[in-house]
Amino acid sequence: MKTIHTIAELRSTLAAERAAGKRIGLVPTMGNLHTGHLTLVHQAAASADVIVATIFVNPLQFGAGEDIERYPRTLAEDRDKLTEAGCHYLFAPDDAEMYPNGRDNQTEVIVPKISTIHCGASRPGHFEGVATVVCKLFGIVQPDMAVFGEKDFQQLQVIRQMTADLFLPVDVQGAAIARNEHGLALSSRNGYLSSAELDIAPALNRALRETKAAIEAGRRDFSTLEENAQQALEAAGFKRDFFNIVRQQDLLAAQPDDIRLVILAAAHLGRARLIDNIVIEL
Ligand code: PAJ
Repeated sequence: MKTIHTIAELRSTLAAERAAGKRIGLVPTMGNLHTGHLTLVHQAAASADVIVATIFVNPLQFGAGEDIERYPRTLAEDRDKLTEAGCHYLFAPDDAEMYPNGRDNQTEVIVPKISTIHCGASRPGHFEGVATVVCKLFGIVQPDMAVFGEKDFQQLQVIRQMTADLFLPVDVQGAAIARNEHGLALSSRNGYLSSAELDIAPALNRALRETKAAIEAGRRDFSTLEENAQQALEAAGFKRDFFNIVRQQDLLAAQPDDIRLVILAAAHLGRARLIDNIVIEL
């Protein structure tokens, strides 16, 4: 695998691949890679010839007081893992390469409505930062396809809408959530958890599974189910953020006759903010 730090070198390298008829697959990340990220690489390899992973801790998607300074940076280990996973190119730009005119003069991509609810309400500006950087990466790499994890369900929806609204010629694919043996969704932020907190953390996925089972058994009192789950999480040691039963198509509050649902959850545990979700097809 070749590591490239500049847009110019990446562009000329990929132009040659494209001229040779190769299909290009993109896997954007912020690094500190785990098995979940690597399944994205494998999925890209199933429908593209040349895989480009990117590692960029994007300042535009972090709010004031968030964890950009302490976000884990492990480039050497990440390179080994990507090589092992069969990735061909790693693009690892610095802030000046991605934001040459600074943050304040940056054109921003705003996907309305969906960016303002759930994670967008807890983290104002977050999805504008995500949509902007992913749009830039699509422009830089010009991939035929790109893979994003369903762990960030709302993010995937934001990217799908941006891609459709801007007519970007990229096939956006979702990849299933990778979990540890206790059901905890793998995340770079799990590294912030103490070993005691790591024992508590799977309760988030448990609350999702229990609420899903209750809905499948016929419960439609969604507000009560949401509040019960929040209380169970608080009793386990979490601080609440949100636990929302919503419709898959627009992520608005589920109505009793909706049949395609997803429960989106976020909660604070120690120094980490964990997110997870579960899909329900009734
Ligand atoms: P990051 O959190 O590093 O995640 C990179 C990709 O890996 C995302 O598509 C995310 O959904 C996926 N992912 C993370 N954990 C996963 C898991 N347990 N199972 C499956 N997929 C998982 O998400 C971002 O970075 C950034 O917002 C980014 C899209 C790179 C834009 O900066």
